[in-house]
Formats: sequence, C-alpha cells, structure tokens
Amino acid sequence: MEKFRNSIIQALSPWVDLDLKPTDLETPPDRNRGDLAFPCFKLSKKWGKAPQAIALELAEKASSSLNPEEFQVEAAGPYVNFRIRTKGFIEETLIGVLKNGLQYGAAPKESRERWVLEFSSPNVAKPFQIYHLRTTIVGAALSRIARHRGHTVTTINHLGDWGTQYGKLAIALKRYAKDLPEELTLKHLVDIYVRIHKDMESDPSIEKAGQEAFKRLEAGDPEMRAIWRKCVEISLREFEKTYARYQVTFDHFWGESHYEDQLKPLLANLKQQGILVEDQGAQVVRVTSRDGKEIPPCILEKSDGASIYATRDVAAALYRYEKFHFDRMSYVVGKEQKLHFEQVFGVLRAMGADWEPKCEHIATGLYRFKDAKMSTRKGNFITLEEVNELCFHKSLELMNARNASEETRPDTRLTADEITMIADQVAIGALVFADLSTDPAKDLDFDVDRVISFEGETGPYLQYAHTRCLSILRKSGLDEPVISGVSGPALLRNIKTPEETRLMGTIARFSEALDRTLDQRKPSQLATYLIDLTKDFGHFYRECKVVNPDDPELTLARLSLVLATKTVLGLGLDLLGIPKPQKM
Ligand code: ARG
Repeated sequence: MEKFRNSIIQALSPWVDLDLKPTDLETPPDRNRGDLAFPCFKLSKKWGKAPQAIALELAEKASSSLNPEEFQVEAAGPYVNFRIRTKGFIEETLIGVLKNGLQYGAAPKESRERWVLEFSSPNVAKPFQIYHLRTTIVGAALSRIARHRGHTVTTINHLGDWGTQYGKLAIALKRYAKDLPEELTLKHLVDIYVRIHKDMESDPSIEKAGQEAFKRLEAGDPEMRAIWRKCVEISLREFEKTYARYQVTFDHFWGESHYEDQLKPLLANLKQQGILVEDQGAQVVRVTSRDGKEIPPCILEKSDGASIYATRDVAAALYRYEKFHFDRMSYVVGKEQKLHFEQVFGVLRAMGADWEPKCEHIATGLYRFKDAKMSTRKGNFITLEEVNELCFHKSLELMNARNASEETRPDTRLTADEITMIADQVAIGALVFADLSTDPAKDLDFDVDRVISFEGETGPYLQYAHTRCLSILRKSGLDEPVISGVSGPALLRNIKTPEETRLMGTIARFSEALDRTLDQRKPSQLATYLIDLTKDFGHFYRECKVVNPDDPELTLARLSLVLATKTVLGLGLDLLGIPKPQKM
C-alpha cells in the first residue's frame, strides 16, 4: 500500500497548500467505493469552500497526473476516492508475497525503536491465573509483531518472586514437611500456603515467624535462600509448560528478586534527594499523576523496614533504562494496577528521570465467564488450568461431532490420535483469538460455545481457512516454488474478477494492520484484519473456480492467490500465536 499512497500524495501535493503525508489518506469503510480516500475537510476550512466542491476539483487534477492504468479517481461527497487497478495489485502485492514469503511485511531494522516489553509476570508459588494469560498473550503478540516490523524488542518476565509471603511459605514447608513428598510440585506449594493461612487464624505467632523468616531471607540467610530458590524453581518448571503450550518466550526472567541489591541504594538516593519522607511510620514519595492530579503517595518502605512491590518496580525501571536506553518501555499488566503504575512513574518523575514519559502501562481487562462453574468467581481466582480443560473438552466434542458427521467425506475422516492433537490446537487457537480479538483494555466475555466454533469470528474459523488453502495447494499437485514462479504477464492476463482484486487489496494492507496494531498496542487490529482477509478469501473461493483443467494458466494464476493468502494468513496466525493445524 505504501507505494500507492506515495503516488497519490505526489499527485495531490502540487494542488494543495498543506504538508501532505501518506497517512493522510484514509481507508474507506466501504471498500467497494475505493481503496484509499482523501478527505477534504481540512482544506475546506482553510479555503473557506465546500468540501464537495474541493473533492470534485482535486479528483480532476489528480487524475490528470496519475496513470489511468494504475488508478481510477472519483469524487464522492467530501472525499476523493482512489481505486487501485488490478495491475497495480498484481505487481506490488501478489508478486511481493510470492517473492518474499514469510518475510512479507517485514521491515528493516534501522529506523525503528528499541522497545522493552514486560508481560506475563505470574507469582511464584501461586497457580497461573487466567488474568496472567491475558497479559501473556497480548504481550507475546505485540513483541512478535514489533520484531516483524523491525523494532528491537527485549521481553522481560517480572516474576513475582519476592515479598513477605516467601517467609510464610518457608515456615509452612518446615511445618508440614512430614506430609510432603520428596518431589514437590506447584500444587503442593499452593496447598501448604492455603493451609498455613488457615492455621494462622488460631495461631497468631505464625505471622510473626513468617516476618522473621522473610527478614532472614532478605539478609541472605543460606537456609532461607535455598528454600526460596526451590520454590522459584518448582514454580518456573510449571510456568514453562504454559509458555511452551502458548509458544511464548522471554529474553529475560528478571523477577522482583533480581533488583534486590538495588533497593537499599535506591532508598538512600531518594533520601538524599530529600523526596523520601516519613508518613505514618512508612517511607513514602509524594507523587502526582502525569496530568498533574494528586494521587496517594507511593510507599517504598514499610514501617518494619521491608521493601515492597513498588520499590522493586522503581528499581527495575532504573535498571532497565540504564541497560537498554529504550525508546519505549511498556508494562502489559491488568488494569487494576493502574494506580500502582501511576505512582511508580510519579516517583521516577520526582527523581528527575527525564525518560519517564517513555514508560507506559498497557492495561488489560478481565475475563468474565458465562460458564456456570466460573461465572461467580473473579478472574483472579480462576486458574488457567481450569480454562484449558474447559476449552479442550469443548473442542474435542466439536471435532468428534464434525468427524462423525455425514457431511464429512469418508476419505477425509481423522484418526482418534489426530483428533486429540487437532482438538488441542483448536482449543489454544480459539482461546488466543478470543482474547486477542477483544480490545485489550476491555473486559472479555468468554463464552466457550461461541469461541470454540467454526462459525463466526473465531480462531477455528481462521485455522480452518488456512487448512483449506493448504488442501487446495496440496491437491493441485504443484510445488510452491512452481506456483510462486508464475509470471507477471500471466497473472495480468488471468486475474480479472472483482473478488480477486479485492483479495489482493486486502493482502496489500497487511503491513498497515501490523503498524496499526503497534501504534495502538492492540492486537485486535491484526485479529480484525485476519477476519477480513479470510472473508475475502471466502468470496474469492466461492466465485472463482481455482482448478480449471483446460486452462492451466488460469489455474496457476488462481493458485498463486491461494498461496499468497495461505502465506499472509499463516504469518498472521504465527504473529498472534495461534497454532496452524495441517488439516481439520
Ligand atoms: N506479579 C504481578 C501480579 O501478578 C504482576 C507484575 C506486573 N509487573 C510489574 N512490573 N509490576 O499481579
């Protein structure tokens, strides 16, 4: 699209006393009207003339300098609409995808940003909750897309692995040692944590013992350190399974404990600057929000001298800036922590960190479940494991029903093993898509029956379209290099229908969808794009017979469109983290 935008801007510029940018062109909501549009409102104000009259005038001027074989220009109300001719799409888009394959839409590194992206960050010795999945998949998708678009991305998992709870956990491990097996799992840790809290109700001395234990841990006591390390290892082993399942990786697992030795120097520094003050026994920094509003002070040291969550976040931000000199640092974290980040950023500002505006909180909404078992609980109390189970069962049911259905041709029936494997991929894809197709800032109403379905705007709908492309290509008997070797003139002779042009026009918008996703920090932009692409592919497939035995050239041209769709759809699914079953 970029080249088309540039040509149009070049054609318009001589007639317009504005500094035009390619992004001044809009995408008409109804694509039947055109592929790009220039709105005349700004000029109307400037020139004191009706926008409709300006549109008519500019349409005439622009069409005289644009090649009519490439563009059709038309005024429509206050807009000048530009339709790109098939030839342009073939040359710029189709051939581009066929040539570049999975590198399609990839941008060179030079001019792009250094982006530190923190996400997931579950808490050690607690189960992985569904609300952590939200930040995990949003963060992972953003990081993949940013890398594809040439940004230098560093991903960090800020594990919750420090704090007074580890004191309690150590006490619990000792107290219940005889009931525990040699090999501990995360489940054991969670259980004893619950149990110690119960016991605490009748035995208040436990609370004190826990605090003492954490003090010893912070002071570096070797026994306490060993216990703590074991808890972290057990938890990480479990979290790694989740990350493998959702294909998420991190450059750094720098949990809260990573900044431990920086806390005392940080507090001393703040004291020296005179911004750390006492408030009801605690040490705090008085802060405002970015827009200058008064917010509660940020507590950095509790009255018992222990550091807290916010202290470690301030230290982490300083450490990361020192290390990466990022252009941007984003925290993908639930919206309930909005105030926390305002306070942390406020402390950075109070310290005179002039890079503080580069920090942002990408706030995520909650999951809400329709399922009776879960609907009454808050998102923080639903484990990912439960949701995985729920999705897998539904998916298995769906796949089995499909496979047994009379509409399924006997030769395409799947084996039981295949069904289990595909059901798992469908379950993951459905959940990830449901999550990512929702604006991350909004709560997500999760209805398993709607989400795990081949109909509607769902993950399985996209996965299925992808397998359909694969099967058309497979059945053609032609290898991909043969298809992608199709010549420009052959394409030009054969690609004629509006469905084909429209499909190419959508493929041409892929990079724009990626950049919009990054600008808005909303993978829902890419998700919506992939739905559009799949719908346009559906129209094409319905209207244009791909395999025409008596016309090999037409067949090859249409197969090249299928291949291009497969490539872009597949790439989009990869970027979102949705598995691609080979058949369904
Ligand atoms: N561990 C925290 C939680 O589960 C999330 C951490 C978010 N990141 C941060 N830098 N504070 O709520």
